[in-house]
Amino acid sequence: MVNIAVMGYGTVGSGVVEVMNTNHDKIASSAAQQIKVKYILDVRDFSASPYKELFIKDFEIIENDPDIKIVVETIGGTGIAQEFTRRCLLAGKSVVTSNKELVANHGHELITLAKERNLNYLFEASVGGGIPILRPISQCLAANEINEIYGILNGTTNYILTRMIKNGVSMEEALAEAKYKGYAEKDPKDDIEGYDTCRKICILSDLSFRRHIYPSQVPTKGISQVEARDVSLLAASGDRIKLVARAVRTGESSVAVYVEPHVVLKDNLLANVEDVFNCIMVRGNAIGDTMFYGKGAGKLPTASAVVADVIDASKHINARKYVDWSAGGPDAVTDSALLENRMYIRAAISPERVRELFGCIKVIDVNDTQTAFMTEEVLDLYELREKIGDTRVFALYRVLD
Ligand code: HSE
Repeated sequence: MVNIAVMGYGTVGSGVVEVMNTNHDKIASSAAQQIKVKYILDVRDFSASPYKELFIKDFEIIENDPDIKIVVETIGGTGIAQEFTRRCLLAGKSVVTSNKELVANHGHELITLAKERNLNYLFEASVGGGIPILRPISQCLAANEINEIYGILNGTTNYILTRMIKNGVSMEEALAEAKYKGYAEKDPKDDIEGYDTCRKICILSDLSFRRHIYPSQVPTKGISQVEARDVSLLAASGDRIKLVARAVRTGESSVAVYVEPHVVLKDNLLANVEDVFNCIMVRGNAIGDTMFYGKGAGKLPTASAVVADVIDASKHINARKYVDWSAGGPDAVTDSALLENRMYIRAAISPERVRELFGCIKVIDVNDTQTAFMTEEVLDLYELREKIGDTRVFALYRVLD
């Protein structure tokens, strides 16, 4: 029997306790032993909960209980969550988490701490909610040099964009729905402004390219500047605007990585990834392209990934799991503006002038003052800015074909 503690009884933490309870027998059979939640740490009052006798408010009870071998951290953020994670590892307990902010910012040091003590720090749920993605990258694709990853990594913004396109709902209304459904972050600005996506592409890059990439190194734009006008102009031909994160290998130990809305052409599989679903494309030098798809947010999908890590940790109480990468540094990242793409542009320019500048283009829309078009040629952002000069640009997106 393995006793565990759950720290933080929010959306994911309560989902973990629910999955542990509902799937108790299946989990015991997968782990080849009973796994029991002994404590739930949360400062709030849960005296009406069916698990009320498990609640504690004092972290030291967990820290000092030698019976607790695995701790689930679902507090979130980098404050107290970081302190408690460190203290659990120092006290000889493996830690399992869905906390992408903590892993993206401090993953290297926490993994190192775990490694020094022959413990595990596991975080499958930190990227893609319930989608198995970190283990496949670390284990199943281990024979590959990974050259590129891109995808939709945030359920909330994908839900919002889907509701805007399909149902004409406003961004504010759609966000309120995403909050109600338990998809959004505590501060939904983290979703809308792309910070959550940024943390996730950092973690995917850490594992794939094996150096720590910090969120502060990743140029990040969210969906707050996306205009309904471009969404509907593109929707007419089945193309979509999606918040995409991308990381491309640019050297032996360097990567160009960024987060921004893209125009996804209708034939790209990502165009049909809707609602709260996420989809991640991983390109390996032996396997080629692989895609991972599923629910990227929500209580039970995320809890399912956390509990799978608990099972894994319970089977490796005195053994290290695969997860590892080396320290980061300024040279880990190269300039993502140099990555080339076709571009979608809406600008105060005539179609004739656009053709002079870019040659072959696909015109999307023309009115008295503006032209919306896609370039046929691929350009980097510097080449594009040079061509477009001081023309007033209202919308500019990279195109994923
Ligand atoms: N707010 C996140 C999302 C939760 O919408 O994807 C899952 O990480």
